[in-house]
Amino acid sequence: MHVLHISAECYPMAKVGGLADVVGALPKYQNKKNILASVLVPMYRTKFLYDNEWELVHKGNANLADWFFEYSIIKLKTNKLGYDLYLLDINGLLDRENVYGYTDDIERFVAFQVATCNWVCSMETKPSILHCHDHQTALIPFISKHCAYYNQLSHIPTILTIHNAQYQGNFSWEKSVLLPNWDSWRHGLLDWHKQINSLAAGIRCADFVTTVSNSYLYEMRVHSNGLEKLFEYEKGKCYGILNGIDIDEWNPDSDKYIPAHFNKDTVNKKKPKMKAAFCNEIGLDANKPLFIFIGRFVHEKAADILVESIISSLYSTNFSINFYILGSGTTYIENDIRNTCQQFPNNVGCWIGYNESMGRKAYAAADYLLMPSRVEPCGLNQLYAMRYGTIPLVRDTGGLKDTVVDVADIDGFGFKFNHASVSDIVYTIHRATGMYYNDPNIFREIRKKIMGIDHSWESVVEAYNQLYKKLL
Ligand code: GLC
Repeated sequence: MHVLHISAECYPMAKVGGLADVVGALPKYQNKKNILASVLVPMYRTKFLYDNEWELVHKGNANLADWFFEYSIIKLKTNKLGYDLYLLDINGLLDRENVYGYTDDIERFVAFQVATCNWVCSMETKPSILHCHDHQTALIPFISKHCAYYNQLSHIPTILTIHNAQYQGNFSWEKSVLLPNWDSWRHGLLDWHKQINSLAAGIRCADFVTTVSNSYLYEMRVHSNGLEKLFEYEKGKCYGILNGIDIDEWNPDSDKYIPAHFNKDTVNKKKPKMKAAFCNEIGLDANKPLFIFIGRFVHEKAADILVESIISSLYSTNFSINFYILGSGTTYIENDIRNTCQQFPNNVGCWIGYNESMGRKAYAAADYLLMPSRVEPCGLNQLYAMRYGTIPLVRDTGGLKDTVVDVADIDGFGFKFNHASVSDIVYTIHRATGMYYNDPNIFREIRKKIMGIDHSWESVVEAYNQLYKKLL
């Protein structure tokens, strides 16, 4: 069985969010379980591209409306990622530094998908399954099954994994000329609310649709940025498979970014040392509980109410807690966070932007991770945090709901709240602060317990394997 994952992101080649972490790790664990899995992403001009050696494996032609273009496929020379990584290049469209954010993103990703289908057509031995991820590759099931030119691909089963249904790749029917020819009666497969909607087309045309947690799968029927009815209608072929994490890459016992290593047996002795070093570096008092927020500063992650929640909990706990915020996003939120750091230098630290090393150290040093997300299909940060002995405070939604049990419940190990509101967040911070100061033994026990929870890909791979088997 050969599975070709097709995606816009793959860590370490190109990362914007959790999609990259999943596509960068799942295939490695699939190969370990004897499923031949490889990955194809666009050849952006990233550091990873220039730092590694590649071999040319294919050159071909394709067209976008009446623009004929050449594309090429290169492959990473080593197998250091644990799977074959292929990059597809199209001059003028994909040869850019960033993954998204260009005015011609629609053209870029349609061209990527069309060229991908051309490449697969040219292969002597074709993949057994095309596994697409998110809207940037969600037109592939339509193209491969319903566009006449790609007839020879129509028998290859396709899976679409949805990491985030907020973004759907919709565009005006005026741009329909970009797509390869299809019979006009199939119009309805592409249309959603009088636009071409890539994600909707993928949901309709893929043989199976998966989402990255069970709760999110259910929530999408109620709340998915306009696609609710479609999810309800197609629920028979939709499955929720919770993400795993790469436990080799994320291991506090060997992480190259952190100065003091620890595991679940040594966490209570060593983590405080890690915390002391980190707090010293960022200028905060290590005796106070350290809450961290790591992620994109966007509405979806409830970053818009972060500053108000921080300030309000600082005053209401009489400044007995500290915060460290790392991430980037909406400019006004970035500025508000910077200002809050300046206003409360003894209690709030931040890094605006991406910083792998500070992120790893923060997970290793912190006591608590705050994730008040309005929408969280799976969420990986709470899993990374737990692996590093950091207790999660999460909103009860999506993957957060499926991975965290409140301490007030049987066998609980985290804190949950219902609303992405300042009052719910502040109340939960109070609960966690109370545990830190008043129940240190319970706090230490929980820290040990969360480090022992298994979220490795090893246990997840089997679920995908079962689906693949059903398709073949
Ligand atoms: C997206 C989702 C996140 C999920 C990740 C990987 O970034 O927002 O919840 O964990 O994809 O599937």
